[in-house]
Formats: sequence, C-alpha cells, structure tokens
Amino acid sequence: VGAEIGDHAHFLVKEIQEQPRTIERALKGRIDERFATAHLGGLNMSVREAREFRRVKILGCGSACYAGELGAQLIEDLARVPASAEPASEFRYRNPVVEPDTLYVAVSQSGETIDTLAAVQELQRKGGRVIGIVNVVGSTIARQVDGGIYLHAGPEMSVAATKSFTSTVTAFALLALHLGRIRDLAPEQGRRIIAGLNALPAQIAQILEQSDGIAEVAKEVAKSHSVMFVGRRRGWPVAREGAQKLKEISYVHAEAYPSAELKHGPLALISPEMPTVAVVPDDDLLDKNTSTLSEIKARKGPVIAVAHRELPTDLADRTIVVPKGEPELDPILLSIPLQVLAYHAAVALDRDVDKPRNLAKSVTVE
Ligand code: G6P
Repeated sequence: VGAEIGDHAHFLVKEIQEQPRTIERALKGRIDERFATAHLGGLNMSVREAREFRRVKILGCGSACYAGELGAQLIEDLARVPASAEPASEFRYRNPVVEPDTLYVAVSQSGETIDTLAAVQELQRKGGRVIGIVNVVGSTIARQVDGGIYLHAGPEMSVAATKSFTSTVTAFALLALHLGRIRDLAPEQGRRIIAGLNALPAQIAQILEQSDGIAEVAKEVAKSHSVMFVGRRRGWPVAREGAQKLKEISYVHAEAYPSAELKHGPLALISPEMPTVAVVPDDDLLDKNTSTLSEIKARKGPVIAVAHRELPTDLADRTIVVPKGEPELDPILLSIPLQVLAYHAAVALDRDVDKPRNLAKSVTVE
C-alpha cells in the first residue's frame, strides 16, 4: 500500500486493487472478539461521553461526504443515535446550530481540505466536540480535532478517492460498533458485525476477480452521453459515489437519484440512450427496487444492476453480482464494482485517469 505504481497502468487501478489489504489495515488491532466491540484508541472519549451525546453530525467534501452518509446510516443502525452528513462547505456558511450534545465527525482523506478544516474550526469556536476520520497521519485536520480514527490506507495518489472511501466506511462501522456496544447493541449483534467486517477482504478480492467482465460493461457505458445511478437507503450513497467516480474520471455525465425519486422528475430522461446503473442489494427493499427497474425498462432504458444475484433480463440487461455480507456493511462491497466501472470507462475514453482535468487531490483553497 505504498506510493509506488509498480506494474499498474494507473495509480487508480492499483488503489482499487489494494482494497482487500487496506480494509485489513483499517481493522487491524481494533476488533475485540471477546466483548464483541471495537477499540478505537485515538477517539479520546470516555464511556460516559460516548453514552451521553444525542446526535451525530458528519462533515466532509466530495467522496468523504458520501462515505459520511453511509457512516450516518451505520451509526443510526448500530448505535441508534440520530445521525446525518452534510457537505462541510454548506455547513460552515449557514451559521449552523452547534449543540453541546452533538458529536461532530470531520471526514477527510488528506486532512487538508480547507472547507472541512474551516468547519472544524468554526465548530470548535462554538464549543463543539469534533472527532476526525482521516487518512494522512499528522495532517492539519488530524491535529486540529479532539480525537479520531486513522484509516491507515497508505498514500492515495490518484485524484479520485477509492480505497479511502471504503476505508472510511469501515472506520464508521467500527465507530458505530463501539458506540453501539456502549449504548444498546446486543453482544450477538456485535459478533455478527465483527464476522461481517472480517469477511470483507476476501469478498472484495472476489469482486475484483470480475474486473474483466465489468470492463466490458464499461465500454458500453463509455459510449453514453449521460448515465443515471439509482439506489435507496444504503444503496443511495453508493449510487452517489458511483456517479461521482464516473463523471470525475471519464467525464461522462452522471447523476444519482434515490430510486423512488425517479418518478418525480428524472424518469423523463430515461430512454434507450440513457443507461441506468442500479444498486440492488438483496435486502428488505428488494421488491421496491425491482419495481423501479420495471419502470425504467418500460421506458426502454438499459439497466446495469449491481446485485447479490443475477436479475432476470426483463429487469436488468446486465447484472454484476457481488457477494452478500451483513446488510449494514454491504455498501462497502456494492461500491467496488462502480469504481471498476468508472475506471474502465475512463480508460476506454483515453482519459487522464489519475489526474482528471480541473480537479485537485486536495483542495486547500476555496
Ligand atoms: C477533492 C478530491 C476528492 C475528495 C475531496 C475531499 O475534491 O478530488 O476525491 O473526495 O477533495 O478530499 P479529502 O482529502 O478531504 O477527503
């Protein structure tokens, strides 16, 4: 997980392929099998403090914010504390209400993003308690916050976030497990999540073995002017991140919608020329998701599904099948094929994959 490109054509594909190891590194030394919890030494938070806050607000930019949206769902699911994520840039400029019983979480791969740093400083000025989820050790945000979790994902060289995204969601899973076990998560539920976390590296490796098949799908996607991404609940931030990856590195226009919002406007865009990438986990919302796919197919929109089993061709033209883990952790697995898809679409279009036009890895000016 170092900064050398090795035999890889691009840093991006190297970083995608590193994910079985980077997830292992995010978990290393943090899982307590005996008490079915996670130890997060850098959090700097007593049990009493961990019990007392009543809300969690997560701030970040770009992919860090989307990872935060998944983090909010993990915290609500496992720790049963209301949680939400917001772009740091919006938060800092809207005179936010800073509450003493809210835990604030700043997410940043680089630890240098100016909007995230400024949000942290504004929070601290108003007495807010902020922890960080950061990759770069000793970075400005890491030094500014009151405690936190390092990703240990190694240097991320490509401008587009990949391994830092999945490691951030993993760090949130550890945080949610830790908080949940202090609040009201039962030991057997903690063990279920731990087993799910431990299974991730091998499951990611299994998904990456399908890269050639996904590259074929990507060649088709690369011919489109615009691609719709849809998902619901945990699939919704996955769809947002998938659309972000595609547009930033391939320059193919993409937008993401919560599946049920399609009929409130964007369904008008669906046609044979506009494919939809649908995140369709085998969860309790499967029926709802398949009815969205029927609506798209009825308008002759091509559908590429990322799902836990092959979908019938009247619902999806292509299915990318990913292994099924614990539902709370599935977003980590479901996001990997979308990274691979964006990468191969960018390669097919001969883009500057690691350094997309107009973008910078770390945005330290406004
Ligand atoms: C830039 C990068 C994105 C990244 C965002 C936040 O816009 O191009 O890939 O998600 O900054 O970066 P951070 O280092 O704070 O996670």
